[in-house]
Amino acid sequence: MRPSARSLTEGNRFGFPYFPDLGRIMIKVRFSASVPDGGHALAYLVAKGALGSVSILANDQTVHAAAKSSRFEGEAGSIFEYHVAHADGAQRVLLLGIGPGGEEDLEKAGGALSARLLTSGETRVSLDVSKMDAKPNAGAIARLASGAVLRGWRYDTYRTKLSEKQKVSLQELVIVGAPEGVDMAWARQSAIVDGVALTRELVTEPANVIYPETFVERCQRLTEAGIQIEVLGEAEMRAAGMGALLGVAQGSIREPKLLVMRWDGTNGAQEKPVMFVGKGVTFDTGGISLKPPGGMEDMKWDMGGAGAVAGTMIALARRKAKAHVVGICGLVENMPDGGAQRPGDVVTSMSGQTIEVINTDAEGRLVLCDAMTWAQKRFKPEYMIDLATLTGAIIISLGHEYGGLFSNDDDLAHKLMAAGKSAGDPLWRFPIGPAYDKLIDSPIADMKNVGPREGGSITAAQFLNRFVDEGVKWAHLDIAGMVWAAKPGTVWDKGATGFGVRLLDRFVADHFEG
Ligand code: BES
Ligand code: MN
Ligand code: ZN
Repeated sequence: MRPSARSLTEGNRFGFPYFPDLGRIMIKVRFSASVPDGGHALAYLVAKGALGSVSILANDQTVHAAAKSSRFEGEAGSIFEYHVAHADGAQRVLLLGIGPGGEEDLEKAGGALSARLLTSGETRVSLDVSKMDAKPNAGAIARLASGAVLRGWRYDTYRTKLSEKQKVSLQELVIVGAPEGVDMAWARQSAIVDGVALTRELVTEPANVIYPETFVERCQRLTEAGIQIEVLGEAEMRAAGMGALLGVAQGSIREPKLLVMRWDGTNGAQEKPVMFVGKGVTFDTGGISLKPPGGMEDMKWDMGGAGAVAGTMIALARRKAKAHVVGICGLVENMPDGGAQRPGDVVTSMSGQTIEVINTDAEGRLVLCDAMTWAQKRFKPEYMIDLATLTGAIIISLGHEYGGLFSNDDDLAHKLMAAGKSAGDPLWRFPIGPAYDKLIDSPIADMKNVGPREGGSITAAQFLNRFVDEGVKWAHLDIAGMVWAAKPGTVWDKGATGFGVRLLDRFVADHFEG
């Protein structure tokens, strides 16, 4: 970092918690015993093949016939839409398919509902489950609401010229006749939604707005949820000996930061925290080994791992998780200026191990290795999971369907895969081992920061593995293909997905909350 950078700051326009304001749009969810008055949209759930048994309005038979002739069969996320006469004009009615009716199906249905209505002109939709025979349970209804809010999330801060028709109209989802316990179930889900929203916000913001210092600023609001925050600047990191992380930062005018967020919901009972470490490269030009221009703008989301860690922390704190968790974000900008590190430079990491920097574009591992060393020295975790948009190679392997999982512990790997599957952030495991490890040996230093082209995601994981202390159960999630979506998914629109938050929240819930 050069000293001239210090005056670059951004006003903190955002408060906590995340209610819709300037650019962030989030649908509100409310539960009610009866359908509110007015001609707003009305929705009913239909299980697959159960159309005939659904009692809707007076003209059931016509509706059933119309739905059938439109090939609506109640598959999860499918919709049959029609209008009926209403005192306020015409009322839109939607039959919303929930397939077999599992939690994932309901979440998908919620996403489909808000995608359909978001800019439809409707301001409110009432989902009436009061007359259902096989009513979904409170948890499943909360998942539906979560799907709706997540899919409806938008960040329109910088779009000043949207036409009325392009603007979001839908503001509220009213769920009528939900079973007992739905308020509790939703309180839990909405905490997770808030976490995903924070992650998406950090990921969406461009790199002239979010850089290490402003990333930390945006996370200051986590203290209001009871999270302790500690921030290391360049001087502290230099004193700690983080030569690998600082080598990446030295070509940028932005000061690097190490952000430490701690949530202890056990009152000290769980001594060793679960540790999450995120790659937070706020922009990755590649440094001197510069990236080609095509698509370089995507590298504003090279902090998606750090974003997921911050989002997970707010989710855990807002739902008062009974676990002890520490999240650490290694925040740097990878730029090529006169002070930038060169290919061939040898840096000394905090662990004492030396690294030959063959390619300055393999910077994520240089940031993570020091963050991991610091994390282990300070907190002595039993479990450490890092998240990073680490390699393009993982996208070649898995496309945009799974995050890559690497672990030194089979049990941990299985737990993470199971959590990912049920929470909606799926993972696929890759091998690691000595044959891959030796591919990053260097003739001049302890290791080099890149291996051969083949197995690029695996040698990246092997690099990180060299910084894991004896006995620590460690997993590395390479989420480069999952942080940003080119097309809408079930619970996200194009853009930032918030991948990782739901996964880590579920992992903590299933294994660390007694
Ligand atoms: N941030 C990139 C990885 C990446 C690429 C994420 C595309 C998302 C989309 C990472 O820092 C990087 O540049 N990795 C290099 C490593 C190579 C130089 C060994 C890569 O994958 O090309
Ligand atoms: Mn890079
Ligand atoms: Zn990168």
